[in-house]
Amino acid sequence: MLGIIPIPPELLDKRLIFVTGKGGVGKTTVAVALGLRAAEEGRRTIVCEVASQENASRIFDHTEVGFHEVEMAENLWSISIDPDEAMREYVLLQLKVRAMRDMLFRSRIFSYLAAATPGLKELVTIGKIWELAQLDRKVKKGRKYDLVIVDAPATGHGVGFLQTPRTFAAIARVGPIHSQAQRLDSFLTDHEQTGVAIVALPEEMPVNESAALERDLRDEVGVAVDRVYLNGLYPERFTNEETDRLREVAEGENGSVRAAARAAVSEHERARSQRAQLSRLRRRVKAPIKTLPFLFEPELGPEAARRLSRRLA
Ligand SMILES: Nc1ncnc2c1ncn2[C@@H]1O[C@H](COP(=O)(O)OP(=O)(O)OP(=O)(O)O)[C@@H](O)[C@H]1O
Ligand SMILES: [Mg+2]
Repeated sequence: MLGIIPIPPELLDKRLIFVTGKGGVGKTTVAVALGLRAAEEGRRTIVCEVASQENASRIFDHTEVGFHEVEMAENLWSISIDPDEAMREYVLLQLKVRAMRDMLFRSRIFSYLAAATPGLKELVTIGKIWELAQLDRKVKKGRKYDLVIVDAPATGHGVGFLQTPRTFAAIARVGPIHSQAQRLDSFLTDHEQTGVAIVALPEEMPVNESAALERDLRDEVGVAVDRVYLNGLYPERFTNEETDRLREVAEGENGSVRAAARAAVSEHERARSQRAQLSRLRRRVKAPIKTLPFLFEPELGPEAARRLSRRLA
């Protein structure tokens, strides 16, 4: 077997998927669509939000999800991971001595600890994500999931979130924090178990940033980048001849027809420039690229997410 690189499993066959990308590119939408797809294929799936975003519940019209596993659709659950709650749960699972737990909860020790330890919130969040992905759940009577999908925080500050366990493992050189952080890091960087999907927009800067993000995730963090979703692609509605004709009309006299022709030409040009960005993205990233159409709807709900889910695999 020496020298043969094993083929990693298909994206949805992994246990854990992080959906990442810049702010506002469609991470939540893609995370939910992936969740719907996996659930429709019969996988028991949970979509996790982090840092109190509560976005996925918006798509499903649920007012609030919170730190509970809530069923959204058949085979599909959702949870919003609050770091304070995750920390509480972690301590509860660790400490066997009741009196000590009570003392810890009464004091404001969590807030102090979190304030004094940068990255601790991220660490307990990833710890909870890991816990959800275990078939042998630490939480008593925890539901077993085939797949955990994380609507990851926007990558405004690089790839820090996914690197948290390694950072902690390095700081705490020995002891339980070291070994637990290392276990998290091994899980995240195990290409068989954990995958990453990057969401990008078909514009110049976002394409550049996505290419840089893929490189950092692969080379610095060491995770598997399995897909890049280019989201919000406009349809190409017109041929070149039709566009020439539209341009003539757009130069013409008649007020409302001229306005409509101008709008059509402008949308056509946008669709064309997006195709150019798609070609650039193809040259710059290694992961397979899937395009997702722009849906012309004021607010994307479950139906729209379902439509996108068919384009994802
Ligand atoms: N393919 C699409 N077609 C039309 N609208 C879309 C599409 N994808 C996402 N949107 C819309 O764009 C907005 C941003 O999407 P979304 O909330 O999924 O992005 P995000 O990356 O999670 O943002 P944030 O970084 O703020 O969490 C939402 O209003 C969403 O409904
Ligand atoms: Mg979001």
